[in-house]
Order: sequence, then structure tokens, then C-alpha cells
Amino acid sequence: MSKVLIIYYSRTGNTKAMAQAVEEGVKFEGLDVQCKDVKDVSPKDLLDYGGIIVGSPTYYGTMAAQIKLLLDESVKYHGKLAGKVGGAFSSSGILGGGNETTVLDILKALLVHGMIIQGSPMGPHYGPVSIGKPDAGNRNQCVNLGKSVAQLFKRLA
Ligand SMILES: Cc1cc2nc3c(=O)[nH]c(=O)nc-3n(C[C@H](O)[C@H](O)[C@H](O)COP(=O)(O)O)c2cc1C
Repeated sequence: MSKVLIIYYSRTGNTKAMAQAVEEGVKFEGLDVQCKDVKDVSPKDLLDYGGIIVGSPTYYGTMAAQIKLLLDESVKYHGKLAGKVGGAFSSSGILGGGNETTVLDILKALLVHGMIIQGSPMGPHYGPVSIGKPDAGNRNQCVNLGKSVAQLFKRLA
């Protein structure tokens, strides 16, 4: 199960661009990775991956309904995702628009599943965020998230 799944919802491409940078980071660490639009992910798919990273635009200070729906439907596998490595990222419209609370909301759901989350002491503490289209710095933070999830997975494996 040396696979990482990156799930994103993106209406105008910003979160998708972040997801692609996260994918780059996982690949750099030599793990199999799939990057999927949430519409192509079923709750059962979550069982097949050792790492699950979720990205959402910030909608009203939290995740988009499409992402929340997948998480709610994942209750079917409650207890079965424990020990998997997780991460989250978000794109918002403005500074202070709730991107960090969105990341934390996603991470809370992953923690409820018993997943393992590593914070970051130096970079964005909870996970990468961007205002609109990710710039080079945001992209780099996303690559680093992919790397750190993959590294933790390898250490635990
Ligand atoms: C329904 C809706 C709600 C939004 N709510 C917020 C918000 O609470 N705070 C914020 O900063 N941006 C908000 N935005 C802006 C998006 O988070 C922002 O445009 C984001 O970059 C879109 O990501 P995407 O290109 O992946 O779709 C909202 C946009 C929509 C469509």
C-alpha cells in the first residue's frame, strides 16, 4: 500500500494547481501517487492508499460541500483509515478569508478517522494555503507537503 491519494475540488483551477504541486512532492520521494478530482473518488477508494491528502477551496470559511460530502460518506469505513498518513491544503480568495480554518477542518476529519498528521514548525504550520492562484512560494509549500507526507509514510512503513 505504498500509494498516496491526493483529492481536490476546484472550480476555477487554483486548488487543482496546488494539488499538482503536492503530487510533484510525493513523486520526488518515489512513491506511487494519484491526484484525483473528488468527483472521481468514492469512499471505498480511500482504503487503497497509505497516504491521503485533501485540498479544497475555502468556501464560507470551510471546505467545499463536495469535499465534506466525501468525508461524511467515508463513515462507511470508520475505523479502517486509522494509521494512514494525512495532509490538507486550501486556496481562498483573500488573506484572512479562512484558508487556515479550512485546512484545520479537513485535518480534524482525518484525525477523527485516526489518521496521522504532521505539522510543520517552519513553513505553513497546518498545511499550505494560497490566495487565489498559487505563486511560486505557495507551489513550493505544496511540494513540501507532498514530500513530508511521503517521508512520514516511508518512516512508518
Ligand atoms: C461559494 C464560494 C464561497 C467562497 N468563500 C470564500 C471565503 O469564505 N473566503 C475566501 O477568502 N474566499 C472565498 N471564496 C473564494 C475561493 O475560495 C477562491 O476563489 C479559491 O481560490 C477558489 O479555488 P478554485 O480555483 O480551486 O476553485 C469563495 C468562493 C465561492 C465560489
